[in-house]
Amino acid sequence: MAPQDAVQGWDEDANAEAYEAFTRAHPMYEATSRDLAGRAQLSYADLVVDLCGGAGATARAILDLVPDRARVVSVDNAAAMQRAGRRTLTDARLTWVTAPAEHLAEHVPASGVDAVVCNSAIWKTDTAAVFAAVSRVLRPGGRFAFNIGGGFAGVRHPDEEAVRTGPSLNALIRHAAARIYGRISLSTAGESPFKLPLETVTEQLAATGLAVVDTEVIAQHSTMAEKKAWLSIPVFALPEGDLTHAQRMRILDAAYARTTPDSPTVTSWLVVVAQRPEATE
Ligand SMILES: C[S@@+](CC[C@H](N)C(=O)[O-])C[C@H]1O[C@@H](n2cnc3c(N)ncnc32)[C@H](O)[C@@H]1O
Repeated sequence: MAPQDAVQGWDEDANAEAYEAFTRAHPMYEATSRDLAGRAQLSYADLVVDLCGGAGATARAILDLVPDRARVVSVDNAAAMQRAGRRTLTDARLTWVTAPAEHLAEHVPASGVDAVVCNSAIWKTDTAAVFAAVSRVLRPGGRFAFNIGGGFAGVRHPDEEAVRTGPSLNALIRHAAARIYGRISLSTAGESPFKLPLETVTEQLAATGLAVVDTEVIAQHSTMAEKKAWLSIPVFALPEGDLTHAQRMRILDAAYARTTPDSPTVTSWLVVVAQRPEATE
């Protein structure tokens, strides 16, 4: 089963539209998707899965690298995200499947998939179940490339500290929220609800017969302006707690007013590439 909150928010049209517009206006999801697609060895692939594919930003990166004859299946739980994606992404090689990532094996042939790519989502899933499903569908030698947000994996790229010139937007949001709506409890605002360190990932992958072949902590360079646009997407808006989206946007505007729009920010990602071992004679 997917964790309870897997679809909450994602399957709402307003959120999906805002998310999809963000992916086209800002490089963040395109950049991390391209990084993963590049690691998945797609040049000779016939069948590739875009897992938790959302509105298609990762599918676009995959489609740029696979041959013309290839098929790409984008699997996501949230129909609203796929509706938003279908409007702008039409490619005959791409099929959209609305299903939990945990049920992947019901939608593609066993041992028939050359690569699975999962950008910016794996920690939202039941990873043990998802890894088992990926292991069943990958062909021997097939690759599984995914990333985990630094806060969820417990990693930090050195650039995060190197570029810091003042308080983070998250910290400014906490202060602005306390100033404007002092009554909210902010103890968990902005904190990662789940932790998925590399040790857990490696153990869970090994239990399904998948071996880690590459890991890297990468830095994604961005600006305060992009971070603000990202925090305006309803599912990402802070702080958590009993607030409307309009109230969160008021807090965000107040926090952002204390920053410089083009000042640099860095997000860390743990990138993991796993592989199903080649068949032995
Ligand atoms: C941040 S978006 C990433 C979408 C896409 N990979 C991209 O880079 O733009 C996360 C996506 O994960 C999906 N998701 C979360 N948990 C899921 C699950 N258990 N099964 C399928 N999709 C899931 C959400 O619906 C959402 O579309």
